[in-house]
Amino acid sequence: MHKGRARAFTNIALIKYWGKKDETLILPMNNSLSLTLDAFYTETEVIFNETFTQDTFYLDGVLQDEKATKKISQFLDLVREIAKKNLYAQVTSENFVPTAAGLASSASGLAALAAASNEALKLQLSETDLSRLARRGSGSACRSIFGGFVEWEQGIDDHSSYATPLSSDHWEDDLAMLFVLVNDQQKDVSSRDGMYRTVTTSSFYPGWLADAPKDLATAKKAIQEKDFIALGEVTEANGLKMHGTTLAAVPPFTYWSPDSLKAMQAVRKLRADGINCYFTMDAGPNVKILVEKKNSKDVKKYLETLFDSSQLVCAYAGPGIEILK
Ligand code: DP6
Repeated sequence: MHKGRARAFTNIALIKYWGKKDETLILPMNNSLSLTLDAFYTETEVIFNETFTQDTFYLDGVLQDEKATKKISQFLDLVREIAKKNLYAQVTSENFVPTAAGLASSASGLAALAAASNEALKLQLSETDLSRLARRGSGSACRSIFGGFVEWEQGIDDHSSYATPLSSDHWEDDLAMLFVLVNDQQKDVSSRDGMYRTVTTSSFYPGWLADAPKDLATAKKAIQEKDFIALGEVTEANGLKMHGTTLAAVPPFTYWSPDSLKAMQAVRKLRADGINCYFTMDAGPNVKILVEKKNSKDVKKYLETLFDSSQLVCAYAGPGIEILK
């Protein structure tokens, strides 16, 4: 029996990954940049055993169906290939997210599974190789191997596409990200399906691709100079551009709900009142607000006049993967 346990934290992209140039290897169309956060994480245990006759996957105590297990099995196939061992596994994952947040994160999930597998089979992969492995499970997972600000270099092949931590002189410790958890009944378009539809059909996609490298450069410069306004402005603009591409997809779609817009308007109002804060969104209706730690209480207080306090979660910069005993 070979057993490993690991914890990985979720990350939110300030410069988004949106579109793949290789669907199988999960190579992105552009570099992305994220902040790893402390509030949401996944703990995963994986056991490889000679006596198992199939892979099984438990998430939050519930045995998962064939579809969810298949995604895990395909990832474990990569691990088995590296280990040159043909062993089935039992994967037990727990997501630490506020109830009904709709934030089940593939980033923390696949990063934790990669790290736990590495531990279980004593693969001794470097963090770079772990990042490459996690990427094959879910692109954004490659960034969750590391803490703080992280850049995913798109690369040109499996070998050259991985994330690295950005040096920032711990500036991320002065920042916070406030999550506005928006409950909506819309049918989800997964990030995987959404980006595929956008790349293949949206006439706005070339515009996104043209701007992404400039946005990345602006964000990296802002981090170097600890310029919060510059980082916030480019984060908000880049997120809006990503969401703009979905409107020209065929068929068109949007992740925004009425409450997402309400949160965005609140951010604009706060800014007009002199509090610097900026929003971003991913493949769902939740809004994430980047704010300096010193202003996070004021932002939360104002949002509490518009949303239930159970919908608001304040996160700070989080660490990279942790091995659990
Ligand atoms: C909008 O990493 O979930 O959150 O690689 O297909 O698993 P797959 O997609 P995923 O996409 C994340 C997209 C995003 C932006 C980001 O995190 O950069």
